[in-house]
Amino acid sequence: MTDLTGTSFEFPGEYYEIMRKDFRSVDAETEFLSSLLPDGGTALDLGCGTGTNLRALAARGYRGTGVDQSAAFVDYARAAGGAGLTYVHGRAETYRTDERYDLVYSLFMTLNYLPRAELGATLRGIRELLRPGGHVVLEFGHLLNFVDTFQPHTVAHHRGPDGVLITRLARQAVNAHAANWRNEETLLVRAADGTVSMYDNFFDQAVLTGPEMRDLLAAAGLTVTAEYGGFRKEPAPFHGRGPLVIVATAGASTAQQEENHA
Ligand SMILES: C[S@@+](CC[C@H](N)C(=O)[O-])C[C@H]1O[C@@H](n2cnc3c(N)ncnc32)[C@H](O)[C@@H]1O
Repeated sequence: MTDLTGTSFEFPGEYYEIMRKDFRSVDAETEFLSSLLPDGGTALDLGCGTGTNLRALAARGYRGTGVDQSAAFVDYARAAGGAGLTYVHGRAETYRTDERYDLVYSLFMTLNYLPRAELGATLRGIRELLRPGGHVVLEFGHLLNFVDTFQPHTVAHHRGPDGVLITRLARQAVNAHAANWRNEETLLVRAADGTVSMYDNFFDQAVLTGPEMRDLLAAAGLTVTAEYGGFRKEPAPFHGRGPLVIVATAGASTAQQEENHA
């Protein structure tokens, strides 16, 4: 039997790219991320999807690594290329390397996909992956963001190049007791020649709150330097509305702090 828990995103990357452009501004994201990178710097994208952000950064001369649990998306990202980019098929929470990065980021609510119990360790891992002076950018969905946008059933259409039309039939369910948000989607893809293909996608997202994230960041030794409501630096949302973009840097490590006080 198919395991229908966790996260899927196993459908052709070109269809994800078509839908993504209707939700996001890659230009605003690139501008924001670039402003935190030194010339020619390196970035780590956790939950990189089809590599959209990394390719845009590579076009500006940055290098980077993307990690994603979707084999289909990693295949797409590798085939799409980009100078100085590498991709790892794996989970963000267990990614380890000897490399250190000027910027570690996770966009489009990907943090919400991680098992809640592993968030603390994941953030500590992120801290270890930073170069001195490096930055972290995390965008996550808030409790009220989920509540405000709750739609048990959605039908949406997304148009791509060459007459491709994607119809997304989405179903959502909230398990308030587990603070878990369940999304199931059927994607109907119509090509210009009349061919129809169909894909199932599903994902569970943890419902997070600003205070919870700030506590987890502090416990991981990450100091919040800015909070915004989006990548155009909109004001941080009041009262748990979201999504929230948090910028952080590594504070001194415990060992470093002890050394400083010695
Ligand atoms: C909404 S997409 C965002 C992708 C990308 N960050 C973007 O902005 O287009 C969520 C992505 O998170 C990935 N994902 C979910 N859980 C993950 C995990 N534990 N480790 C790595 N990737 C994960 C999914 O495969 C999917 O590509």
